[in-house]
Amino acid sequence: MIRLFGIAAGAGFTLILLYSFVMGAVNFIKEPPVKAVEYSFHKHPEKPGFAHEGIFGKFDRGQLQRGLKVYQEVCAACHSMNLVAFRNFEDLGYSEGQIKTIAKNWATETPSINPDTGEASTRPSLASDQIPSPYLNDVQARAANNNALPPDLSLMTKARHDGTNYVYSLLTGYTDPPSDLPEENRPGTGLYYNAYFANLNIAMAPPLNSEGQVSYDDGTKASIDQMAKDVSAFLAWTAEPKMEARKSIGLGVIGFLIVFTFLAYFSYQNIWADLKAQKRKD
Ligand code: HEC
Repeated sequence: MIRLFGIAAGAGFTLILLYSFVMGAVNFIKEPPVKAVEYSFHKHPEKPGFAHEGIFGKFDRGQLQRGLKVYQEVCAACHSMNLVAFRNFEDLGYSEGQIKTIAKNWATETPSINPDTGEASTRPSLASDQIPSPYLNDVQARAANNNALPPDLSLMTKARHDGTNYVYSLLTGYTDPPSDLPEENRPGTGLYYNAYFANLNIAMAPPLNSEGQVSYDDGTKASIDQMAKDVSAFLAWTAEPKMEARKSIGLGVIGFLIVFTFLAYFSYQNIWADLKAQKRKD
């Protein structure tokens, strides 16, 4: 009796499950989910190709130096880079002297206190300082940017899906809104249409907007595309400066594991050889 009851309860549950699954499927077909406008106009990042991609990929030092220049001369006017210190630029191939000069000549000075009066003041940066923020706090940053907050760029390429390609696409992706874009999705005042930005309208005016905006020291032509690529590669480095070490350690570990697998297999054969030979005799 109890057994019958159990079977009936089980069958009841199964039927309810089946019913809800079938009803769900019917509803899905009858009323398919409506795609948001953002979804249909949004674009996935382009892939311009970076030297540091792939398991053997290494940063292109020349490109990183150019990217730093783009950040320094364009982006640093609005975006902070709190997690990077000037001395980290040694990784980009700069000498100690060059780093001191870069720090000293940085457009924004490092906040400090006047030792005589105790008042807030600023001083030229040292190699050991972090890159100073262009704004004193978020309130000032918003006030200067139409109430939008320019995010810190140190980890930006990690904070967005496909980050390096995303930053490149965002910088080169400003266009006029397509003609079939509904009125309510069109950029309002102070907003710019960009199909790579999540909600299609970004509060950052196109920062890279004229060829030769940055004058490169190595003679590379500073096209908008080139500047966008270089600064994206630079931001990939700031987000993961130890990427090359990670890759080479990873390759070493995989190599070791492969060798170790063979070693383990041959030791196994060696250790059991006597016993196996004996078994064959029996
Ligand atoms: C005039 C100020 C200004 C300059 C110059 C500027 N930005 Fe921005 N940026 C902003 C503001 C404001 C936002 C926030 C936009 C928003 O939330 O709609 C932003 C947002 C961003 C974002 C985040 C987008 C996201 O997905 O949230 C990235 C990446 C970015 N900027 C990169 C750059 C780079 C790289 C440069 C230099 C080539 C640069 N910006 C120059 C003001 C600026």
